[in-house]
Amino acid sequence: MTPMNILMVSSEVFPYAKSGGLADVLPKLAEALDKRGHRVKIVMPRYYGITRYLLDKHPAPLGIPMGDQEYWVGVYSTLIPGTRVEVYFLDHEQLFGRDGIYSEAGGPEFPDNVLRFGLLSRGAFQLAKMLNWFPDILQAHDWPAAPALAYLKSLESAGPFRKTKGVFTIHNLGYQGIFSQDQFKYLGLDPSDETRLGFSYHGGINFLQAALVCAHGISTVSPGYGEEILQPELGFAMDGLLNLKKNVLAGILNGMDYDIWNPKTDQLLPFLYDENNLEGKAKNKAALQELAGFSQTPGVPLIGMVSRLVTQKGFAHLVENDGEALRKICALPAQIIILGTGEKHIEKKLSDLALELPHLQVFIRYNEKTSHLIEAGSDFFLMPSLYEPCGLTQMYALSYGTIPIVSPTGGLKDTVVDRGKNPKTATGYYFPIPLTGTGMVETLAKATKVYRLQPKVHRAMILRGMALRFDWESAGRHYEEYFLSLP
Ligand code: ADP
Ligand code: GLC
Repeated sequence: MTPMNILMVSSEVFPYAKSGGLADVLPKLAEALDKRGHRVKIVMPRYYGITRYLLDKHPAPLGIPMGDQEYWVGVYSTLIPGTRVEVYFLDHEQLFGRDGIYSEAGGPEFPDNVLRFGLLSRGAFQLAKMLNWFPDILQAHDWPAAPALAYLKSLESAGPFRKTKGVFTIHNLGYQGIFSQDQFKYLGLDPSDETRLGFSYHGGINFLQAALVCAHGISTVSPGYGEEILQPELGFAMDGLLNLKKNVLAGILNGMDYDIWNPKTDQLLPFLYDENNLEGKAKNKAALQELAGFSQTPGVPLIGMVSRLVTQKGFAHLVENDGEALRKICALPAQIIILGTGEKHIEKKLSDLALELPHLQVFIRYNEKTSHLIEAGSDFFLMPSLYEPCGLTQMYALSYGTIPIVSPTGGLKDTVVDRGKNPKTATGYYFPIPLTGTGMVETLAKATKVYRLQPKVHRAMILRGMALRFDWESAGRHYEEYFLSLP
């Protein structure tokens, strides 16, 4: 097979910029395709927090025409260690030299996101021209990279990109990049193209919709979510369009990074452990309890959450009626520790409840180290998501021997086996849907009862989860087959 040139466009790439799982996926997917012999490059913005002096600076700046105006950006690059994958950073102080990817912490979205991510998308083509390297596949990830597919279909349809196939990868259909119509001009496209390229949306413009219209192929991050988005309930008004392009839609399960999320080697953990000896896990639990200010009472399970604190992740049901569900869970008894940032009203409600409930601790912050300790030190990992395109944190939990309790949706359903369905192969528990506070409390009551009264059953579930492998190798193979299959 002839190796492909693959250019990925993304607003987030770990470890340079991350707000969620998108960042974790990019380097690993790129690496998996690199290992299969393909040449992969990634382009992203150089945000304020990305230190320039650690990167290679390209001698000449890059001009990016956006309509009447041309923007000049600096270009930096680096290699993903152990691979041939180059990450390119577009450096424009005024547009990207800020704290925050889409907004300042907790603040409103930046008002110039159309221009910022339009520039990233258009910049991908200018960069390829500068490098004299042309992709067979242009893979745009989520709404910030969506305009790339509109440029491919319009300004770049002839010339060196005429054979390039554009793939839009949906990591979350709930975020579409919707802006007022008067912002369209910043993309530097012909006004008559607004409708033709699929931007027009209820009097405004919609980045994601345009990408769905313009893409040769559409992929998403689990088979389950690939089916759900075809239905009106989880289609976020895009199900009609997605059904029209169903023949080029693929749901490919993400892998996870076992170099970073591995209890045998994790440098962020105070104690290491493996499936043959879970003593280290118990010690991590004690360390986590100490961090949370919890007592170490035998028989009381510790439940962890690491999550963006947003409606998608099911927090409304946890905090509704003055935290009724959380109060009942604490009374099971169980201890709960939550790490996350997100919507202000959820942050506030959770923090208020934590002041009141001795079995609840809430850390409103982004912290890699604490996230590892929660994954490793908890007995259960909670994900009551209303929808979940893939979800990585439940995979991390499985690998750390922490039993996931999840909503049976999207990637959660594809990665966790419910004890209610099949006790012999079970790795976790499902909440009943539609999700309710009562349903959550009932499921947790069941799970904590098994923990207390049937330790062998609980342990067998732990070991089954730890033995699973959600590897990037097979995900990479699926992407390769999919890219090659595009008409
Ligand atoms: P999503 O992308 O929808 O947020 P995923 O489960 O795919 O959900 O990925 C979330 C990623 O973000 C995981 O790597 C998780 O550990 C990380 N994460 C989320 N919130 C925090 C936080 N407050 N501190 C550290 N890591 C976090
Ligand atoms: C999105 C989804 C999440 C998925 C991640 C990586 O942020 O919400 O479910 O795991 O992207 O694909």
